[in-house]
Amino acid sequence: MADSISNQNKILITGATGKLGFALFTRFSTINECIPLSYTNSTENGFNLDLTEELAVDRLFDQVQPDIIIHTAALTDVDFCEEYPEKAYSLNVLATKNIVKWISEKSETTKIIYISTDHIYSNEGLSAENDVNPINVYALTKLWGEDIVSGHDKHLIVRTNFFGLKINGIVNWVIESAKNNKEIFLFDDIYFNPLHLATLTDVLVELVEKDISGTYNLGSSGLGITKAEFIERVASAFNLSNKLFKHCNSTDVSFMKARRPKDMRMNISAIQKLLDYEIPDIESSILKMHLKRT
Ligand SMILES: NC(=O)c1ccc[n+]([C@@H]2O[C@H](COP(=O)([O-])OP(=O)(O)OC[C@H]3O[C@@H](n4cnc5c(N)ncnc54)[C@H](OP(=O)(O)O)[C@@H]3O)[C@@H](O)[C@H]2O)c1
Repeated sequence: MADSISNQNKILITGATGKLGFALFTRFSTINECIPLSYTNSTENGFNLDLTEELAVDRLFDQVQPDIIIHTAALTDVDFCEEYPEKAYSLNVLATKNIVKWISEKSETTKIIYISTDHIYSNEGLSAENDVNPINVYALTKLWGEDIVSGHDKHLIVRTNFFGLKINGIVNWVIESAKNNKEIFLFDDIYFNPLHLATLTDVLVELVEKDISGTYNLGSSGLGITKAEFIERVASAFNLSNKLFKHCNSTDVSFMKARRPKDMRMNISAIQKLLDYEIPDIESSILKMHLKRT
């Protein structure tokens, strides 16, 4: 892998206390000068900043002068976004606007890498990059953020979904619920093809090192899986009891405020062609997660 471009670059990571941002910070800081940026939680040698405050963004980015900004900070709670669309707008759109404004006014050579989501799809089957169909506030505001980022020449947008053992996500929720004898609803009607976090961070390192631009889907290979099948496979890999598993459709439950896309599966052929290798499928990623405890 080329390292001459990347290790001289100063990388600023927004959302560095988040699930993905922290993993990216941990990975990129082994090869680059890396500055973590967060909001309410602190990081060692990092900065706290409200990205929705234009002046604060200006001041801090002037000080840091990043070559690359990996923008992961977002309001990711889908139901909260639906209930408070102005808050979703503020972080997913306005904050992104503030960053891109700083780039266009102060540092045209700075590249922005925007982490987006499979949630912007709601189709049947694998969606290619042009098939966007946002059906809730979270998806709309993430796509709006993408539009702002793509106005700048030097950009990379990666639409993804991820899982891992070391983050507070679906896998830990299943493990903890099973251990504590809690009922788990398994949605048979929602399809996705998430990627293991370690693979996602590896591929992002490669995309940065190769200075790739554009918009790409990045999920597991294969045809994807329902959320119910995913949970069952995690349970089987970790030898968890499934006695409190309740199969249902997402429309059968009343606790979700936002409409959910039924099919978020991403067609990843563009990125596979670019990388020239096959991204792992979900089955092997779940086994690897279990074996390596990652
Ligand atoms: N989670 C998923 O399953 C998933 C799936 C697909 C795509 N994505 C995308 O991946 C990215 C990362 O998601 P994630 O789940 O890792 O995020 P997360 O864990 O919810 O973390 C959000 C981050 O945003 C920061 N933040 C919140 N408000 C801020 C503000 N006003 N100014 C500056 N920073 C602020 C938080 O900082 P503090 O902690 O310091 O408050 C935190 O570091 C997002 O862009 C999301 O759309 C996520």
